[in-house]
Amino acid sequence: MPSQPRTILVTSALPYANGPIHIGHLVEYIQTDIWVRFQRLRGQRCWYVCADDTHGTPIMLRAEQEGVTPEQLIARMHAEHARDFADFGVAFDNYYSTHSPENRALAESIYKRLRDAGHIARRTIQQAYDPVKRMFLPDRFIKGECPRCGAKDQYGDNCEACGATYAPTDLKHPVSVLSGAAPVEKASEHYFFKLGDFEDTLRKYLFPDITAARHVQAEVANKLDEWFVAGLKDWDISRDAPYFGFEIPDAPGKFFYVWLDAPIGYMASFQNLCAREHLDFDAFWGKNSTAELFHFIGKDILNFHALFWPALLEGAGYRKPTAIFVHGYLTVNGLKMSKSRGTFIAARTWLNHLDAEYLRYYFAAKLGPRLDDIDLNLDDFSARVNSNLVGKYVNIAARSASFIEKQFGGKLAAVCHRPELVKTLQSKSETIAGHYEQREYAEAVREIMALADEANAFVDEMKPWVLAKDPAQHELLHRVCTTNLNLFRLLTIYLKPVLPRLASEVEKFLNIPALAWADSGTLLTDHAIHPYHHLATRVDPKQVAALLAEAHENLTMTTPPSPPAPLPQGDGSNLISIDDFGKLDLRIARIIAASFVEGADKLLQLTVDLGEGRTRNIFAGIRSAYDPAQLEGRLTVVVANLAPRKMKFGVSEGMVLAAGPGGKELFILSPDAGAQPGMRVK
Ligand code: 2FM
Ligand code: ZN
Repeated sequence: MPSQPRTILVTSALPYANGPIHIGHLVEYIQTDIWVRFQRLRGQRCWYVCADDTHGTPIMLRAEQEGVTPEQLIARMHAEHARDFADFGVAFDNYYSTHSPENRALAESIYKRLRDAGHIARRTIQQAYDPVKRMFLPDRFIKGECPRCGAKDQYGDNCEACGATYAPTDLKHPVSVLSGAAPVEKASEHYFFKLGDFEDTLRKYLFPDITAARHVQAEVANKLDEWFVAGLKDWDISRDAPYFGFEIPDAPGKFFYVWLDAPIGYMASFQNLCAREHLDFDAFWGKNSTAELFHFIGKDILNFHALFWPALLEGAGYRKPTAIFVHGYLTVNGLKMSKSRGTFIAARTWLNHLDAEYLRYYFAAKLGPRLDDIDLNLDDFSARVNSNLVGKYVNIAARSASFIEKQFGGKLAAVCHRPELVKTLQSKSETIAGHYEQREYAEAVREIMALADEANAFVDEMKPWVLAKDPAQHELLHRVCTTNLNLFRLLTIYLKPVLPRLASEVEKFLNIPALAWADSGTLLTDHAIHPYHHLATRVDPKQVAALLAEAHENLTMTTPPSPPAPLPQGDGSNLISIDDFGKLDLRIARIIAASFVEGADKLLQLTVDLGEGRTRNIFAGIRSAYDPAQLEGRLTVVVANLAPRKMKFGVSEGMVLAAGPGGKELFILSPDAGAQPGMRVK
């Protein structure tokens, strides 16, 4: 290890402030956090910053939909995100927001420097505009028929049915997702960053001489090559009002596109940390900085980080990243995470059922330095946690600790029994460190588990439980158990970047200060430890089943707005007969009791009276819009002849009628005064 510690700044991509953190996001935060924790264990000065990515149209619209200001929405999301990260052990030095004074000042000054150096162009472009909502529409807010295969209800940028990519103007019968109106073309002046001015810089950065250090993985450079082949085009960095973001200083009514100020958010979060920690911002971001700067990102946002961002930094007189580390996506049971399959698992949902560190361990066991996707197979997950983490690693301590406590007054022996085995584990310290450094976590975990196998073989061979029965073997038992706990301590050091909470429990049990990597060179002998408490339990299949059940129930949690359903056309195809209608038994009902349903985010349990004391139990998906107390005593309309449905929480014997897009905007129907429970609705 170099005698002078390295100075390192690390970031993970900033999550959007309009949705919950999910396990797909967590691949990256866990990957980064492991790396940061590893660096710190090695004695490096390593800072880790992040922030919520708060600007843009989706956030503005979601706030509007919820009836709150964007500031209120982003404050709430920030608190939720920060809590999720903390509970997954992702230990940022600063978790900030792109809607901050530091970010505004930095975005403005970077823009002015670029403008003054001639790197900003202005020109008028035609764009899709919603004449009802009176705003320009991002591609994702336009839907229509695919121009290639004719599939209906496709987004404005690509077809999910045939994979075609196109411009929103190519869609047939386009509609605005916001109002259902047909978009019109409208002209507007936009501001562009002249990416082509930085072609030489970017080429040197992405494709350095064979002798120079790489800034991106080889496969990333290959992917980016196509941008140069196509020619580096100007990048549109402005958006028209209404927009939630920062107004461009010399352009009233024009705002910085969210992707302009998002990466600047890395700097802003760090600047905010500098004020608190008395750090020198320029020593990290200045042109002559000797600090290392690393961004961890997913492969979907490569162009923003490896093209636009280094070019912006260069143009504004800052240093460029030392490296950009790109990872793949997460699949669940082999498939893309999907709400309808119930595999869209929010971080909080995971925490409601399973240990956060088990996910950290599983991801680590699968992560490498490449862009391959990683799969969370829930059977494999349970098997690995149970057999490796609990069965191999934790078990070493569990099999020895009670002898030390009961037969040796809680004190370790002065020497280990098989020093060469201990040395074998110690000798792997640099190999394992190398794996972490190179983000070869799967290799590190494989190596560590192979050492755990050796430790277990030693326990099996020495059979402390047999030695314990023979007073003549008392000393040997002491040395064997001391050896086991030393092996366990070494494995704990090696796993500490992955399992920080478990490692801290081990430190308490072993009665030692926080372990650092260099402690693998020493042993723990002649030392009093604390009584052993269970450190980890096996994953129960019931926990996994409950996790999936909750994920399934959260189906609609982050569904984007959809266009208002079209009214029946009267061509006969979607009309029903009066006889069909007659089959529906709609009744006035009084809600006599309403309560939350434990473990169900969406549901309320209602007891309704259908007159003459006939009560029904109904589970209604209206929790997002109503407090139970608001409902008790109210009259409403229910479908009374719906076949009973067995749900996870009980049988639902009817359906309450409600209207609206969802979330807070869900309205149960109420009859006029005079209606009585039991009356038929005709
Ligand atoms: O793709 C995303 O989720 C973006 N919010 C990432 C931004 S990373 C950085 F540039 F801010
Ligand atoms: Zn298509």
